[in-house]
Amino acid sequence: MTNEKLCELAKEAMLRAYAPYSGFKVGAALLCEDGTVYQGCNIENAAFGPTNCAERTAFFKAVYDGRRDFVAIAVCGGKDGVITGGFPPCGVCRQVMREFCSDDFKILMMHPNGFEEVTLAELLPHSFSPSEHMGM
Ligand code: THU
Repeated sequence: MTNEKLCELAKEAMLRAYAPYSGFKVGAALLCEDGTVYQGCNIENAAFGPTNCAERTAFFKAVYDGRRDFVAIAVCGGKDGVITGGFPPCGVCRQVMREFCSDDFKILMMHPNGFEEVTLAELLPHSFSPSEHMGM
């Protein structure tokens, strides 16, 4: 799986976004070690608070399937589904990544002409991790 192909799958996932309140459509494609990809979109709610980001949709689908072996995630989005620039995942999504991913987990933040690659350690330094509870 190339980074470029993973980005294409994130774009495809963005088409599934349910974002009637913000109009900001987001897609994510989460890559597992064996090449399996889980796609996710943001799912908004009239009460706003229950809104689920695209990244978490992808993670929760994968975890439900028993997956834990995550390598990378590509994320794209924009107003009305038009990608104008890259954006970093929100803090809640970073914490969900922390639960299942190692420091070198890759995050591809897509912009109109490619992507910027960062690691989870760069996005969430000094994080509260499962080791705090489980001695892992
Ligand atoms: N959103 C995501 O799906 N992922 C992020 O990393 C940032 C924000 C969604 C939540 C909401 O539906 C919309 O984008 C506007 O914040």
